[in-house]
Amino acid sequence: MGERAKLRIESQTISMQELVDAAVAVAGKAYAPYSGFRVGAALLLTNGETVTGANVENVSYGLTICAERSALVRAIAMFGPEIRIAAAAVINLNGAPSPPCGACRQVLAEFIDPDAPICFPAGSTGAVTAVTAVTLPFREVLPFGFDLRLK
Ligand code: THU
Repeated sequence: MGERAKLRIESQTISMQELVDAAVAVAGKAYAPYSGFRVGAALLLTNGETVTGANVENVSYGLTICAERSALVRAIAMFGPEIRIAAAAVINLNGAPSPPCGACRQVLAEFIDPDAPICFPAGSTGAVTAVTAVTLPFREVLPFGFDLRLK
C-alpha cells in the first residue's frame, strides 16, 4: 500500500503520508535523554480521529514507555476502551525504519483490525518516500500474538 493511498474512515479521509507526518511531528516531543532515540507514533482510529504518542524514558530504564503504547493509552483516555485502530505509522528521528517492538505489537493487537496497515518508514525529517517506507497489515506484523482462551 502506497503512502499516498487514502484511508477512508467514516466521513474523514487521510493519507498514510499525513499519518506519517503526524508521527514525525510528535517524535520531536519525545523524552529520550538516555537513548537519544526519539520515536513518534500516530494512530488513526475508526472514529476518524488521529491520536499521537511519543516515547517517554525514565532513569530506571525499564519504566520507559514506547511511542506506540503512549499513543494507545492516550487514545483510550480520550475516547474510551471501545476504540479500534484502523491504521498506524511509527517513525523515529534517527533515519532508519523502526517497526514496533514486540511488546507494543502485543498491546496494539487488542485494539487493532488485523488488516490495518502499519507503516514504519525510514526518514527523520518528514521527507519520507514510498521507496523507504514499509507498510504491512497488522496480521503480518504480529502473526502469532498471544491470546487468552480460558476454555
Ligand atoms: N521505542 C519506542 O518508542 N517504540 C518501539 O517500538 C521500540 C523502542 C523507544 C523506547 C526507548 O525510549 C527508545 O525507543 C530506545 O529503545
